[in-house]
Amino acid sequence: MNNACLVFEEVVFRYPDTRGPALQGLSATIPKGSRTAVLGHNGSGKSTLFLHAVGILRPQQGVVWKDGARISYASKDLASLRRSVGLVFQDPEQQLILNTPLEDVSFGLRGSGMAEPKIKLRCREVLERLNLTELGDKPIHQLSLGQKKRTALAGVMAMEPELILLDEPTAYLDPVSETLLLDALEDIHTRNGTTLVMATHDMNLAYRWADWIIVLDQGICKASGRPEDLFASRDMIQSIGLGLPLLADVWQSLPPELISGQKAPRTADEFKVALSALLTSIERRGNTVTRF
Ligand SMILES: Nc1ncnc2c1ncn2[C@@H]1O[C@H](COP(=O)(O)OP(=O)(O)O)[C@@H](O)[C@H]1O
Ligand SMILES: [Mg+2]
Repeated sequence: MNNACLVFEEVVFRYPDTRGPALQGLSATIPKGSRTAVLGHNGSGKSTLFLHAVGILRPQQGVVWKDGARISYASKDLASLRRSVGLVFQDPEQQLILNTPLEDVSFGLRGSGMAEPKIKLRCREVLERLNLTELGDKPIHQLSLGQKKRTALAGVMAMEPELILLDEPTAYLDPVSETLLLDALEDIHTRNGTTLVMATHDMNLAYRWADWIIVLDQGICKASGRPEDLFASRDMIQSIGLGLPLLADVWQSLPPELISGQKAPRTADEFKVALSALLTSIERRGNTVTRF
């Protein structure tokens, strides 16, 4: 695939001293410039997949391709891979090593050899973009989970990677923190064309946010595709015990003759527009709605 950013080809990986492999021949593609959601139950292999994307784990069988080339595990190549692929861990404690957001974000930049004035500027921009300006000098252990998660993202964003992987970034966040984080992602996606990959359990979020979806089940990729196509297959989603997004569920419960050929709406606003168009077309035909 020409526009693939990352390709996993029949990747097998087993952690030491465990019974079954965590990835058992997983093949999947992350399109360049996409917003990809990786869905799957706990233990389905999402985090293991992410660790392969940054070369922290290496396939025992199979290959990971980045921009059409096999990932090389030589240490200088790994350093360059990690400049272009950033991973935001699920637990910010795993990522944040210094005392304050400002120190933590500048640490990575300093490691990349950037000059001090540029580091200051970049830090200021990134902290502002993530609504952390006021908290730059606050001890990290005093931050809320949402603030810690945004600080971890700030550290990754500051390096301006072309691909950012986020492991369950919205888990346990309140709606305000979730919105702040998603807005910051939207911002870098539009400004820099950064490819974003998010592991999540939140079907509603995946449906409205992603333009590509990968479904993992027991270490394999069970399905992938555009959200409106993938969730149109109610049986597949339910067969692996995942829920249908609310909007997909409601849309699909409308009479098929009404919605056939229409693009399924993925946000509340799209849904309102689609519903109003349906009602208008019914009225125009002189019919009344008898059942939904
Ligand atoms: N460090 C580890 N050591 C041993 N087994 C692990 C380790 N990390 C994950 N696993 C196992 O690998 C499988 C996939 O886990 P993981 O990639 O964390 O899934 P997910 O992120 O989808 O919850 C699970 O069976 C899990 O128990
Ligand atoms: Mg995980």
